[in-house]
Amino acid sequence: MRMQARQLIAFILTLAIAAVCGETKFLLNTRRVQENPQQIEAEVEALVRSSFYAADPTVLSIPRWLGDSSSPEISAVVSARLQQQDSNIISVDLSQATNETEIIDSVSSLVILLNRNFDVPLDRILLVGFAEGAHLAGGVAARVQQDLGSQLPQITALDPSPGEDLEHKLSPSDAEFVEVVHTNAGGEGTWEQLGHVDYYPNGGQNQPGCSTNSCSHERSFELLAEIWSPENDFVSARCGSVETLGASSCRWSTHKMGQNREEDELPASGIYFLETRQSSPFSRGAYYIGFL
Ligand SMILES: *[C@@H]1O[C@H](CO)[C@@H](O)[C@H](O)[C@H]1NC(C)=O
Repeated sequence: MRMQARQLIAFILTLAIAAVCGETKFLLNTRRVQENPQQIEAEVEALVRSSFYAADPTVLSIPRWLGDSSSPEISAVVSARLQQQDSNIISVDLSQATNETEIIDSVSSLVILLNRNFDVPLDRILLVGFAEGAHLAGGVAARVQQDLGSQLPQITALDPSPGEDLEHKLSPSDAEFVEVVHTNAGGEGTWEQLGHVDYYPNGGQNQPGCSTNSCSHERSFELLAEIWSPENDFVSARCGSVETLGASSCRWSTHKMGQNREEDELPASGIYFLETRQSSPFSRGAYYIGFL
């Protein structure tokens, strides 16, 4: 009885501290708890009690500024990934978090905890970020590199925002491989090349079937299920610059957007153009290219 009261007080204190500090919270999805994500903290006991399984790969998903579990990018990442493989998908809840430094501190300490206390190798952790979350992912990866002396393998950045209000801007030096999908460049996203490879579907600015910036912006994560599918058919063309994005000015290749670099002889790099359809399945594939 006394223990319960003490736990209750501790719980209330935690809530009070969270309310004051604007804490970064985490939600864990696995196939075992698909419908009901578990709220977790960056501490050993919380993770041990959760359905986190250290032998499965981990995806750390960072939404837009102030995004939470109701933000569509969160469920898009969870469902795209769980369709393909058993994974721990840890989504960052930014609804209470307004300080960039604190967000980066808190997410990077979770990565470090997974690495040190759960023996999760860094190369089993993928960072995915949408809009401002892409830059936050870069900041987290840079911090992990600073603290552990080795790099995270990959950041997948989905229509990153211009990032002008943020201290850390995503760059290729943040991880071994940074890939970027631009779907609303010049609107809610940016034209700027931020990765080793930057894809500009349909020219990168407006997406088919979209009449608003937010529709084109959000298309970036709607493409994810097909990017991660073994049937990925986003055949892409390599371009010389963002000024010359187009079906006729770029060189068509066998490379597909977001194709796992292990399958390539060389990691993709540079600027790529591709065309998509306006609804799922979005990819047009090599058959279509044959008519261009
Ligand atoms: C953000 O948090 C850091 C570290 O806690 C603090 O030094 C900084 O002043 C905060 N920034 C703002 C804008 O509140």
